[in-house]
Amino acid sequence: MPDQEGMLEVVVGKRDIQAFYGSVAPVYDGATVQYEARAKALALEAMARQPGEAYLEVAVGTGISIVEQVKRTGAAGIVGIDLTPGMVALTRQRLDEAGGAAVPLLLADARYLPFQGAAFDCLFNSYMLDLIPGDDISKIVGEFGRVLRPGGHIVLANLTEGEGEDAAFMEDWKTRYLENPIQLGACRPVLAASFLRAAGFAGVQRTYCGGTGSWPTEVVTATAPGNHVHRPAHRDLMEILVCSLCKGGLARSVAREEGGRVLDGSLHCASCNETYPIANGIPNLLPPDMRA
Ligand SMILES: C[S@@+](CC[C@H](N)C(=O)[O-])C[C@H]1O[C@@H](n2cnc3c(N)ncnc32)[C@H](O)[C@@H]1O
Repeated sequence: MPDQEGMLEVVVGKRDIQAFYGSVAPVYDGATVQYEARAKALALEAMARQPGEAYLEVAVGTGISIVEQVKRTGAAGIVGIDLTPGMVALTRQRLDEAGGAAVPLLLADARYLPFQGAAFDCLFNSYMLDLIPGDDISKIVGEFGRVLRPGGHIVLANLTEGEGEDAAFMEDWKTRYLENPIQLGACRPVLAASFLRAAGFAGVQRTYCGGTGSWPTEVVTATAPGNHVHRPAHRDLMEILVCSLCKGGLARSVAREEGGRVLDGSLHCASCNETYPIANGIPNLLPPDMRA
């Protein structure tokens, strides 16, 4: 892990984080949207996705950014994941209502991405690394580099240390985090650039976005390790999906299907003998210890 002197330890377990975000999903936007809007707009601008590019959003939350991305650049090639069933269900509903019914949404853990290497041209992730322990940030950033094609584009937006007039605000936030982290959604400030550099990302750039009415946020952009290659042609989800644990291939069994979407069934990995359920149209690629 890169030296991150002063970064607060995460004391909330991943099951508790999953349970918390499940419980707040219906009211999440009311508590956050206004404070994150400027940074998210900046991050989506920085992403500059071209229509058809294979695009992964990690931690879709309530779906605001992925729906916006579909509106800007079309649904083809977009995939979303999140750890929390309540968040994925909300995003599914929003995408279906906004012309994004074709966008696959999965339950998955960023630590164990269920995709082949170099499957995506670009990757977007907002306000998630700030609730992840440092060792796991290194692991996740490594996964981001693996699933992006060499030269692929990443944009992160994270709660970060306050600058200038925001410094006192974030010192107070950290004091309150130490008293009761979950009241702040378990989020504490991070500086992600050094994690990206340590994982071999190139051209790492950080823009600070804060000021009155916005939570101190960093927007970090970079390109994935390796020499640039032509972007992969957009492929069907089943062509890029692999076992979260051993990255082996998956065979799908379909129990119920409607309009081309598999509603119920399962995915089986012959390499490690793990079986992942598909329920209500959502493949659950979470590692076994994170499944409900
Ligand atoms: C603070 S919310 C941010 C949601 C959304 N990205 C946004 O900016 O509005 C954090 C989200 O990260 C998800 N999350 C937390 N840990 C995760 C992990 N290891 N893998 C995937 N998603 C995760 C939570 O379920 C939750 O939806």
